[in-house]
Amino acid sequence: MILPITYEKEPSLHRPSQPVTAITNEILDLIDDMFETMNQSNGIGLAAPQVGKNIRVIIVDTQQKKSKPFALINPEIVHAEGEQVYEEGCLSCPGLSGNVKRAARVTVLGLDENSDDIKIEAENLLAVVLQHEIDHLDGILFIDRLSEEEKEKVEKQRNLRKM
Ligand code: NI
Repeated sequence: MILPITYEKEPSLHRPSQPVTAITNEILDLIDDMFETMNQSNGIGLAAPQVGKNIRVIIVDTQQKKSKPFALINPEIVHAEGEQVYEEGCLSCPGLSGNVKRAARVTVLGLDENSDDIKIEAENLLAVVLQHEIDHLDGILFIDRLSEEEKEKVEKQRNLRKM
């Protein structure tokens, strides 16, 4: 089932999400629906608050060779190093994009749908997506992380969008 995506002003996008305490059928159904929703919008990542659920679930599909889509429950960045800048967008902020400075490499722990421990060592785009989606779980959007200069650029995009 395709779920409605929440946009910028929705309170669910700005508050911290709760950890998942049990991976119930309801959570598994949510993950299925999130994949369907993300694929329909051709996204490369989606976090549960973007479909109005304030729980710590993300899905990722960088659509790169050799990568396969995955869900991560209660993801946590346990190590971050280096620096990279990537032009990000977000399904919750249609028409907006800006350069965001993030860690170049991250190590992320979490659970998969079977409650198995997952450890991901990520760099490049995967590291960006993981940091972006985990930010969503803390109520942070990429537009909250922009430099003043990038913020101005996004404001111009916003004005164009209104025309
Ligand atoms: Ni996003």
